[in-house]
Amino acid sequence: MKRKEKALILAHNYQRLEIQEIADSIGSSLQLCQEAAKAEDVKYIVFCGVNFMAESAAILNPDKIVLIPDLNAICPMAAQLPASEVRRYKKMHTDAKVVLYVNTLAEAKAEADVMCTSSNSIKIVNRLEADKILFGPDWNLAWYTAKHCPDKEIIPIPEDGYCYVHKLFGADVIYLKEKHPDAELLVHPECDPEVQELADFIGSTGQMYNRVQTSNSKKFIITTEIGLIDRLRREIPEKQYIPAYKNAICKQMKRHPLEKVYESLVTKNHVVKVPKKIADRARSGIEKMLELSK
Ligand code: 13P
Ligand code: SF4
Repeated sequence: MKRKEKALILAHNYQRLEIQEIADSIGSSLQLCQEAAKAEDVKYIVFCGVNFMAESAAILNPDKIVLIPDLNAICPMAAQLPASEVRRYKKMHTDAKVVLYVNTLAEAKAEADVMCTSSNSIKIVNRLEADKILFGPDWNLAWYTAKHCPDKEIIPIPEDGYCYVHKLFGADVIYLKEKHPDAELLVHPECDPEVQELADFIGSTGQMYNRVQTSNSKKFIITTEIGLIDRLRREIPEKQYIPAYKNAICKQMKRHPLEKVYESLVTKNHVVKVPKKIADRARSGIEKMLELSK
């Protein structure tokens, strides 16, 4: 079906193994945005990830049809910052610029000056000509970014945005670090500050993958959703991976089994649509991010 329909299958690092196996590209939010931006000679993009990612692919590819196997793959964190809230904060801080994590819905993106991901938030904030920045929705990513951008005032919006999967990591990490002193502890910046402070390396899913590839270590404690471990075990089997918490599963990311991917190509019912007016405004923030993160 993929070949017949000239479809490109993009899969986030948290996807089920069976989806990773059929994907044309597997990667982090940023890598998939870049893949979507350069998609050529394809009619359909099947996006195996959560809704905000598929929306970004649709925004960057107005001439292609973006399908999502399950329309209910909705990231709860993205829903924590509706566009109306961004507008409210903007009114309260008229002198600030708005940097939003790509984990937001298109209407919220349309209100931002620039987008960021967990792999480029520091670069984007540092390169932006503004001293005061409204940053959301993830509080922990805001904390991580502020720590590395001491000259900027970063105001998290909302005050308490979080990812329920990365909130699962806590004291177990201390225990695992003691049990495996020879392992490197890799942590996603969506984790709480106490967990980040224990890390040997902090980065996005794509940066964690690269770290495993280039590090001399043979053993890693992985503090993010377990799908990344599935990918690492498949692609870099010579190293050993310890999940920081084996039930760290993003239910929304796992909503795309193989049958649904197949069905989406047969029925073409689940088209991701972003109204043109919103897409045009949101596109500039995504393109600015892609430009600034070069
Ligand atoms: P990455 O940008 O690191 O791929 O993460 C996306 C995400 O949803 C993390 O929970
Ligand atoms: Fe959203 Fe967290 Fe799932 Fe990522 S892991 S898609 S931030 S709920």
